[in-house]
Amino acid sequence: MTLLFNKIDAQVHFVDIVPELMDKLEQQLQQYFPITPDLPDTWKVHCIDVAKLPIEAHEGRHLVIISGVGGDLTSELLNAIHQSKPCANIDYLLCPANRPQYVRRTLIELGFYCLEEQLVEENKRYYEVLTVSADAERWGSTSDSAISPQPVSLLGDKFWQPRTPEALDIATRYRQQTLAHYQRMQRSGDPQAAKMVEAWERIAIQQTLDV
Ligand SMILES: C[S@@+](CC[C@H](N)C(=O)[O-])C[C@H]1O[C@@H](n2cnc3c(N)ncnc32)[C@H](O)[C@@H]1O
Repeated sequence: MTLLFNKIDAQVHFVDIVPELMDKLEQQLQQYFPITPDLPDTWKVHCIDVAKLPIEAHEGRHLVIISGVGGDLTSELLNAIHQSKPCANIDYLLCPANRPQYVRRTLIELGFYCLEEQLVEENKRYYEVLTVSADAERWGSTSDSAISPQPVSLLGDKFWQPRTPEALDIATRYRQQTLAHYQRMQRSGDPQAAKMVEAWERIAIQQTLDV
C-alpha cells in the first residue's frame, strides 16, 4: 500500500491463497485507491497459489516481494515461483520474519545473486532485507554502478560494511545479539551451535562511513 501511496510507476499485484484475506484487502484498496474506467489499473488482487501467478503474461521487469512470513515459507514460495518461471525477468525483495540463513541457503543452492542487503530494526527485532536476482548478467550491464551483484553469502555481506552511523550501530547490535543466541545454544549442549559461534565470531564489521 505504501508503494501505491507513493505513486510508483508500476502495477502492484497482491497475492494470497485465502479468499477472506483477499476480499478484505480488495475492499480496502478500492476505498483508498479506487479504480476508475478512465485510469489504468494501478493494482490487482489475486487469490491464487503464488506458483500459478501469471507473471509471464505481463511484459517488463518484475519485483516479487515476500515479507511477513518465516524463513521456511519464504524459501518455499521463492522456490515455487522460480521453478515455475525460471526465465521470467524477476528480482526478489525478501524480508523473512525469522531464520534468514534458511532463505540464504536456498538462494545459494539456486545460484542467486545479491543486489542489495540491509538490516532493519523494528520493535527490538532485527530483519535481514535482501534484494536478489538469478540473472546477474542483466544487472552487471546496468548503468547503475551502485549495484554490483555478488553470489549470496550465508551470513551476509554488504550490511557488514555499513555506510552510516545508524547502519553501523544496527550491524554491531545484530552481531552481538545473534552471537549471544548461538553461545546460549552451545552452553545448552546443541551440537550444531559451536560452528555458528565460530562463524559469527569471525564476522568483521568494516566501517566505510559516507562523510
Ligand atoms: C503469516 S501469513 C502473512 C499474511 C500477510 N502477508 C501479512 O503479512 O499479514 C502467511 C500467508 O501466506 C499465505 N500463503 C502460504 N502459502 C501460499 C501460497 N503457496 N500461495 C499464496 N499464498 C500463500 C497464507 O495463506 C498466509 O495468509
